[in-house]
Amino acid sequence: MTAALAHVPRQIPNPEATPGLADARLLPDDAFLRDWDAIILGDDVKERLVRQAAAAVRIRSEVAFTDVPLHGVVLLSGPPGVGKTTLARGLADRVARSIRLAGRPPWAFLEVDPHALASSALGKSQKSVHQLFNVVIAEQAEMGPTVVLLDEVETLFTDRSQLSMDANPIDVHRAVDAGLVALDALARRHPDLLLLATTNYAEALDPALASRADLLVQVPLPDLAARRVILGHTLAALAAAFPASPELTSPRTLQAAAEASDELDGRKLRKAVAEACAYDPMAGGHPGRLTVEALLATLRGVQR
Ligand SMILES: Nc1ncnc2c1ncn2[C@@H]1O[C@H](COP(=O)(O)OP(=O)(O)OP(=O)(O)O)[C@@H](O)[C@H]1O
Ligand SMILES: [Mg+2]
Repeated sequence: MTAALAHVPRQIPNPEATPGLADARLLPDDAFLRDWDAIILGDDVKERLVRQAAAAVRIRSEVAFTDVPLHGVVLLSGPPGVGKTTLARGLADRVARSIRLAGRPPWAFLEVDPHALASSALGKSQKSVHQLFNVVIAEQAEMGPTVVLLDEVETLFTDRSQLSMDANPIDVHRAVDAGLVALDALARRHPDLLLLATTNYAEALDPALASRADLLVQVPLPDLAARRVILGHTLAALAAAFPASPELTSPRTLQAAAEASDELDGRKLRKAVAEACAYDPMAGGHPGRLTVEALLATLRGVQR
């Protein structure tokens, strides 16, 4: 893309008409910014992710692949419900906001639907993967800076050594090979292509993909301080729609609620607040009548 073309609005594919694509949009996008803000993680994890992604794009633009073999792949791994997908969408947005490349069009975001590719009819996975990586993603990367989200990446890059004979292993094997070959080619050709992958089955992931990741981030369960903030945000959002007792969001309640929710992931925490509204029969399911006691009892009772 030349500087003269930079003002031309960037074309992105229609996900509904593109097999294997779950979403496509231009960045930045305020909905993704809200996603980013919603995820609470300790230890500077989020800002470190942005810095590392930005450094990878900058290094790859200036230094040969053979010298620093960065693939532009960031792998977020961790248990279900810890915010990996939300974080990846937010990171895409943050990267687009922090790296504005002179003379280049705006960043585009593509989200791959791995299940659509993996469930393609017998013998078709390889072709679908090839089409998606070498045509759809390659075309976007050719046009300008692009972030691709490979959610639940183990579905696509299944560990080839663990394939059982009942799952059409030859097709899966070829699909994984096709994906890896395409990744290598894309990485060499497009320094401003970033692939964000998520998994909660790191052990089911083909090691060749893990080895291509420039950065492997374990997204942890929220610690006590993070749980306090997540519960505070969730209760405040609920109170904005259904004014309730201010005691619910007091520091004392939030501390007690965070202590009662050890080992809960972010998704369960947020859901538990909604569930608590149905705890007390006297409240009749009205969120405005939620009590501290109902909240704590519900949090303690959530299955770990
Ligand atoms: N650390 C966190 N802080 C705030 N909210 C969180 C956190 N972790 C998860 N959530 C909330 O939980 C919900 C689920 O998050 P998300 O789908 O991103 O998790 P995930 O790790 O991708 O899960 P899965 O592995 O099941 O796909 C979102 O609404 C998200 O905001
Ligand atoms: Mg997810």
